[in-house]
Amino acid sequence: MDKTFYISTPIYYVNDVPHIGHAYTTLACDVLARYKRARGYEVSFLTGTDEHGQKVETAAKANGETPLELADRVVKRFQSVWEKLNISNTDFIRTTQERHKQAVTEQFRKIEAKGDIYLGHYEDWYCTPCETFWTETQLLDGTCPDCGRPTSKLKEESYFFRMSKYQDQLIKHIEENPDFIQPKSRRNEILSFVREGLRDLSISRTSFSWGIPAPENDKHVIYVWFDALTNYISALGYPDDKDGLYKKFWPADAHVIGKDILRFHAVYWPTFLMAADLPLPKKVFAHGWWTVEGQKMSKSLRNVVEPNMLIDTYGVDAIRYFLLREVPFGLDGDFSHSSLISRINSDLANDLGNLLSRSTAMLGKYFGGVLPQAGTADEIDTAFTARFPKAIELLDKQYSDMAFNKALQTIWELISSGNKYIDETAPWALAKDDSQKERLGTVMYNLLEAQRLIALLVAPFMPDTAEKMLEILGCDGKDVTLDGHDSWGGLPAGTEINKAQPLFPRIESD
Ligand code: MSP
Repeated sequence: MDKTFYISTPIYYVNDVPHIGHAYTTLACDVLARYKRARGYEVSFLTGTDEHGQKVETAAKANGETPLELADRVVKRFQSVWEKLNISNTDFIRTTQERHKQAVTEQFRKIEAKGDIYLGHYEDWYCTPCETFWTETQLLDGTCPDCGRPTSKLKEESYFFRMSKYQDQLIKHIEENPDFIQPKSRRNEILSFVREGLRDLSISRTSFSWGIPAPENDKHVIYVWFDALTNYISALGYPDDKDGLYKKFWPADAHVIGKDILRFHAVYWPTFLMAADLPLPKKVFAHGWWTVEGQKMSKSLRNVVEPNMLIDTYGVDAIRYFLLREVPFGLDGDFSHSSLISRINSDLANDLGNLLSRSTAMLGKYFGGVLPQAGTADEIDTAFTARFPKAIELLDKQYSDMAFNKALQTIWELISSGNKYIDETAPWALAKDDSQKERLGTVMYNLLEAQRLIALLVAPFMPDTAEKMLEILGCDGKDVTLDGHDSWGGLPAGTEINKAQPLFPRIESD
């Protein structure tokens, strides 16, 4: 069987600039994409921008530019921040691209031809920031139940999608595929929502024009979520599939999204796909939201944390590490500079950085920087080295559960055990006794080989750091393949290893 892996981020609205919330999803996808590549998978990793809809049209008007001008300007900010964050996406889709428009039109046509799209009238409450219709009873004191902002009554001719028809099929699918929606608490939420009953869904608008016109009726623009969700297949070349990417990668292995847009991905998208007779994605994972120093992040509070600023201040790998280490993926978390700094100082500078500088310094002092052969292993050595295969196996499971913080804990237990191994074997004492030269060699070999493995294991999270570490250890820094390289003993005796400069300088809090 071909080993392929297809992972996607949501496509980001261009009426906002990139912040840590966006960076979080994209980063999580990047880590998985890198891990899967290291495991020999051919990876398709998609991100992009959602450029249609009333929200973007309104934002453009307010700026005195056309929606496309706005999109062209903001898309560059997303692209450059992803580059700076070391995101290894293989494609970037914009919903204003021709390939996407064709796919959306075709998807609409196909579902219409099946009889699952019909023309009717809509009268309901609309929340523009969420681009969502609500019934009178769903409103909370007249405001949007999701975001709490005002809604307005809209009556218009509209195309409807027969979502109600797919209610039972969707329930069955969720029940039969326990991993389809994750985490579990979110799956239960969706199941009860669907069991309450699915209404047909309005999938076109006539009150504005910035979008993809309905086929054969350009009075209507296609609903922005019908449009946006299709990106996951339009980017693969659906429906023509000239390059065979759709055939190769669909269904997606995982759509990673925030909890606020789960319903669109776990209800609307699957039913659209069912209507079009296409397979459903294997997994939809909804992560939690970040607050900033205890408060909701928002433009009006002026507390939006921009990844650019963070990277310039703390370095890219520190941010990549922090965001995925601090909070279990799936739960909400709080961003603060003080917790970021304390993670950098304790986990990165102290634990990881010290291990490398201590051990390379000792290798220089005791063996002139040339890696000795490992001799007979003592109990303490086998206890140490045996941790690695166990951790590597556990990591694979943690990756498939998207338990990034646990995966980092697993790696950091190895790092701590490395530091402990130094304390317990006390190489400085062995060095004083000539008869212990072989013993000292064994200890030094184990320490440095451990760090070759640690570098490979941290690589998906911290690619630059891994590269630096591997180069210090005399390996090819660009080759972070795990398959075939993740068993003990890969570092050849005789390798020259220089004393490492600190990987992460300590940061003083003020
Ligand atoms: N355009 C839609 C997605 C369409 S996907 C077919 C959209 N865009 S968005 O730009 O508003 O949000 C994109 C993602 O950013 C969502 O997954 C959302 O959860 C995430 N986040 C926005 N603010 C966030 C935080 N404060 N914290 C974590 N993630 C947050 O929705």
